[in-house]
Amino acid sequence: MSELLSCFKRCGIEPEEVQGGSLVVRSPIDGAELARLHETPASAMNEIIARSKAAFVQWRTVPAPVRGELVRLWGEELRSAKRDIGHVVSLEAGKIVEEGLGEVQEGVDICEFAMGQSRQLCGKTIVSERPGHRIMEQYHPLGPVAVITAFNFPSAVFAWNAALALVCGDPVIFKPSEKAPLSGLATFRALERAIARFGDRAPAGLAQIVIGKAPLAEALVESPLIPLVSATGSTRMGRSVGPKVASRFGKRILELGGNNGMIVTPAADLDMALRAILFGAVATAGQRCTSLRRLIVHRSVKEALLEKLLKAYAGLRIGDPLVPGTLVGPLIDEAAYVAMQKAMAEAKAQGGRVLAGGERVLEKEFPKGFYVQPAIVDMPQQTAIVRQETFAPLLYVLAYDDFAQAIDLHNDVPQGLSSCIFSNDMREVETFISAAGSDCGMANVNIGPNGAEIGGAFGGEKETGGDRESGSDAWKQYMRRSTNTINFSTELPLAQGITFV
Ligand code: UN1
Repeated sequence: MSELLSCFKRCGIEPEEVQGGSLVVRSPIDGAELARLHETPASAMNEIIARSKAAFVQWRTVPAPVRGELVRLWGEELRSAKRDIGHVVSLEAGKIVEEGLGEVQEGVDICEFAMGQSRQLCGKTIVSERPGHRIMEQYHPLGPVAVITAFNFPSAVFAWNAALALVCGDPVIFKPSEKAPLSGLATFRALERAIARFGDRAPAGLAQIVIGKAPLAEALVESPLIPLVSATGSTRMGRSVGPKVASRFGKRILELGGNNGMIVTPAADLDMALRAILFGAVATAGQRCTSLRRLIVHRSVKEALLEKLLKAYAGLRIGDPLVPGTLVGPLIDEAAYVAMQKAMAEAKAQGGRVLAGGERVLEKEFPKGFYVQPAIVDMPQQTAIVRQETFAPLLYVLAYDDFAQAIDLHNDVPQGLSSCIFSNDMREVETFISAAGSDCGMANVNIGPNGAEIGGAFGGEKETGGDRESGSDAWKQYMRRSTNTINFSTELPLAQGITFV
């Protein structure tokens, strides 16, 4: 058996599953075919959704801490399969080894978080205005949750959603990106192994995966039997999903584009900023929704910072992400490369000066792999192209003169996911994270915009979607709230002092 098939097998994916299907999966590393997966027929969707609904009726009555035990087992399975799933992520999404492993670790982390959360699904107790009364809140399971993910976090984002959904008492239906379904499948298989160990307290149909393209996602988005759709991807995708779910009064969690900025002030530690810029702008070849795309730097430190940055960019090891020491792997596909070229051309037309990169490299070694030299473009102002998200290692640099201007520039984009400031000036830092500062869902201090831990709520404002997933109280979105007023007196006083009968 080939090394690839053995790896799949260790992930629980059988050889016959990756052969003879209609969904061709290629590696962005060299364009090689990884698999031909069998697609879920659109005609099967009704039955899949009905199975999920039936599973819900049972799963919602299993005590939450017992549900937490299932997620604990999933975390164990992910931990022991970390190397293999991480490898599939690298093959399929082009991430360097460290980042492939880091992604699976996010899955382990959210399982542990969710297991703890399973004992803390608590509402408030509220005093009543009426004697002998008490008001309380309970959180109850919601129903089947659809999880639609993007290619760039093909394992972790499913885990973020499914771990919480499962402890909250909700079955899941997972539709991985058609560009990276194998990592999702491998992550899902780990969940199936956990379900097998958990035994028959888990109903059939508790977790299901559908493999294929947009029509499968549409079926999930449109089904009134699915009260929550969690979708990660482009703002364009969100514009289609959001209104459709809303029109049937469903709930949604949208994690859409980011066009994340960093402000570097004269009070910054430039060496720390440099490392954060590198990880932010070039890690994952700029294909994180949290990637750094806009550097807003005070004019007095701009030159010094750029000098360090250009030196670091010149030494970046670009290439096969499986080779130790590589820092920048390939773009996901040719379309991503073309989009980056287009953005660069527009930036130049809008007055930008290319300081580094942008060109395709390693074309001879990998004629079907799209590797680029990460680019830095100095912009005279925040023009239309800078206000757009380009999913590639393309960093725009903008100079500012006074701090209020830096914040204005920072916020003057349609997206609002992540942001950060590098400064040791307490006034600047506190202003940046205050109500008058960054308008993003995440605002960091002396750390880059990407690489968030699972403990915090993850998500952003404006065109990013406005929702949150992962840590903090994101679990509440996977449940419905019931407010209970309890009368333990022998009278029936009405609220607002009303006298009736
Ligand atoms: C994404 O790009 O969709 O904060 C998620 C980060 C990762 C998750 C990114 N923990 O960069």
